[in-house]
Parts: sequence; C-alpha cells; structure tokens
Amino acid sequence: MTDMDRLLADVRRGMIPAHIYNDEEIFRLERERLFNRAWVFVGHESEIPQAGDYVVRRVLEDSFIVARGEDGQVRALFNMCLHRGMQVCRAEMGNASHFRCPYHGWSYRNDGRIAGLPFHKEAYGGEAGFRRKGQTLLPAPSLDTYNGLIFVSMDPDAPPLREYLGDFAFYLDYYTRQSESGIELRGPQRWRVKANWKIGAENFAGDMYHTPQTHTSVVEIGLFREPKAEKRKDGCTYWADNGGGTTYKLAPGTLEEKLGYVGYPDVMVEKMKKTWSQSQLDLIGRDGFMISAASLFPNMSLVHNWPKVEDSDDVLPFISLRTWQPIGPDETEVLSWFMVDAEAPEEFKALSYKAYLMCFGSTGMFEQDDVENWVSLTNTAAGSMARRLLLNSRMGLLEDGSAVVPPLPPEEFAGPGQAYVGYGEYNQRHLLERWAEHMERPAAPVRQVQVSGVHEDDTAVSQAAGGAKGAER
Ligand code: FES
Ligand SMILES: [Fe+2]
Repeated sequence: MTDMDRLLADVRRGMIPAHIYNDEEIFRLERERLFNRAWVFVGHESEIPQAGDYVVRRVLEDSFIVARGEDGQVRALFNMCLHRGMQVCRAEMGNASHFRCPYHGWSYRNDGRIAGLPFHKEAYGGEAGFRRKGQTLLPAPSLDTYNGLIFVSMDPDAPPLREYLGDFAFYLDYYTRQSESGIELRGPQRWRVKANWKIGAENFAGDMYHTPQTHTSVVEIGLFREPKAEKRKDGCTYWADNGGGTTYKLAPGTLEEKLGYVGYPDVMVEKMKKTWSQSQLDLIGRDGFMISAASLFPNMSLVHNWPKVEDSDDVLPFISLRTWQPIGPDETEVLSWFMVDAEAPEEFKALSYKAYLMCFGSTGMFEQDDVENWVSLTNTAAGSMARRLLLNSRMGLLEDGSAVVPPLPPEEFAGPGQAYVGYGEYNQRHLLERWAEHMERPAAPVRQVQVSGVHEDDTAVSQAAGGAKGAER
C-alpha cells in the first residue's frame, strides 16, 4: 500500500516519488479520481463541420461518438448500445444520419435518439412494452467548447469550461484564434508509446531545460532558426490557472517584425492584430515573448515552433495540438493534430503542415528524441528501487522554497498568471499540484442511468435533456 498522504506531501514540495510514473495503484486512482472528473479534450468543431459528421474519441475506456446533429448541435454520445451493450459505431470518423448497432440492429439518430428496433411489435409488444420515445444513447455527463475545442467531463457537475480554463484561455487564443474564423485541424495521427501519460504533459508544460541536451542534433542540422539551443533560457515559462507553457525571447523589434521573424506573412499578422487583445499583442510586441509549448491539465498539450522548411533561411511556424490518452500506467496513446488558421493563405497552410511533420507527429524529429527518454523513464519507474527514490523537481526554488529569480512584473510580461525567465520546474510542479488535488479527493458516487422501456422510468430522458449541454454551432 502506498501512503498517499506522504506521497502527496512529497509531490507538493517538488520531490516526486519515482514510481508514480509506472504504478497500477496510482493509475487506478487516476482513473477514478482524475479522469472521472476533469475536462478532457476530445476534438474540434472543424472536424465535424456538417450535420451528421462524427468522430469517435475515447476518454480512457469510454468511447464517445462526437457528432453534429441535424440541428447543428455537437453531442458526445456514449458508444454503447442500450440493448446488449455492443459498440454502436465502429468507424473512426464519417457522416451518418443514423447509427445501426451491428448486434441486433437497433438504430439511433445522430442526436442519439432511438429510431427503430427490429421486431418492435413482435418482441416487445410495440410501444406498450418498449416505449421508444425518450430513449437515447447516453450523452457524456458534461460537454462544453472553447474556440471550437470540444471537451467532455464525466462529472455532471463540472464547472463551466471557460471557468476551468481560467486565465489559461489568454494563452490558448494564440494557438486557436489567430483570426475570427479560428483554426482548422488535420489528423489526428495516432500512435502508442510505452510511457506514462504524465511525462509528456509535464514536458510540454515547462521543460525548456531538456532542449539543449535532448534535441542537440535537431539544432546541429540547422532545422531551427535559433542557432543555439541555449536560447531557451532567455525565454520564460508562465502558469495561469489550469495550464501553462514556455516561450522564446525574440530580438527587439516591432510586433510586426517579431511575428514576421517567426514566419507569419503580413496578411496573417493583420488578422492577429484585429483578433487579439492589447495585452495579448503586448506580450509579443512590447515584451518580446513568443509562445512555444504548453499543457492544459490534465492531458492536452500544444506546440508552436518555427523551423526552416526549405533550403533557405526562411522559417515557417506551425501549431500542433495533442492529447496524452492513458492506456495504462506504462502506456499512452498520442493523438496529434496539425492546426492552422482557417483564413491562412493556402501556400502557408501547405508549408506549415510540412514544418509540423518534420518536427512532430509520428515521424517528427523532436518527437523521436523525446519519446526515447520517456519510455526509458517509465520502464525504470516500475522497479523496486524506484519506490525508494524521490526525483528532484525543485528547479527554480531555493532550499527555503523561495524562487531563484523573481517572477516577471506586469511591465515586462503582459499576460496573466506568473512567469519566470529561465529554467525552472514551476509548471511541472503546478501540473502535479493539480494532480495531487484530484488524487486526494474521493470520487463522487456514479449516478446510474436506468435504460428501460417501462413507462414510469424516464431517467434516460431527463439525463439526455439535462445531463449534457450540447454546443450550439
Ligand atoms: S446490442 Fe445493440 S441491438 Fe442488441
Ligand atoms: Fe522535446
């Protein structure tokens, strides 16, 4: 048995029991206390633009059909037939007005309502035995969107997504709202890595320290505009409510020059100037910070980078979004999307996609470098010696808990939250602090939804009506 109080106290002082990166018991608790509650990213509205479009996405074992109904609403329907529990939809994406269960043929509309039962009259005595009205595939307990990003939560009482994002939304806009039209996605690429899901989330949240070491070769071949990986220490990390990330410090210049330096064409810069708030613009133009990788607790990460894509000194920015979908304590399925502003010029979209594929995704050079570390870490965390070891995650803190460098004042950092220049594990600690909050809070009992044709039982109906707020188009 793990002494949880002790474990969480260690995590909170930045000394991490190594076994949390590969431990069945910890994973069981994460399943029950964290993923049963937190907002989890499942897709983007641009993936399902038309009525009937759907993608099938999972939160741990729970499969959901994320579909746009004929009414334009986005819903996440639990992909399990009301009859004997077969998976109703076996495809990964598509367009359908109805889903027909492969087992006995019950069919459902794309808003989840039952459309038909074979032999309804003969087998059930018709409506008298099984009333179809109100019977629907179970909706995810909560669904909400921000800038078209669709999230679900298994908690029917989850706070509104906007509240959960808090000030991290300020930073999320850089990736997902470069113009009024927002982003469009390509992908996802999916692959599995034999690594614990928390490692990637922590790395993207704040690990600027690994770049000079792990990614030396990428810098050596000149893929990067920045000639020295050590440049990372001039950037800052920031944390705001439930998310945080890293930045690069750019050379002095105007807002236009800085956005141009990382490769944005003038036409896109003009749109950013109209879309972003003055503070959002100041963080780049006045303060000189350009956002790079970030994580939103628990398992969504983003990255923005600007490699050289052709044989010239020109660089081109790309944005990617990913989830670290846990399979087990030692395995993670990565879903990685390419994202680009919907109004970007076609040529930019094509080159930006190329930039993404060179750096991240299943063939990306950064990806390959990173994963080797994470697999090795996960392997080693399973053993008995790892149970004796506390990993030092206190970078940026003096022994008495005060910061090595003071946080940036508002005059030097226009964004919300707290930002520190240089290397530090502030964000990894924040992420695990959120993790600890969930791990120490027992899960609420799950409310059962009875699905039955009996007239007096309308639980399924009320769940469908009130349980999940669909997103208006
Ligand atoms: S399990 Fe789906 S129709 Fe029987
Ligand atoms: Fe990396």
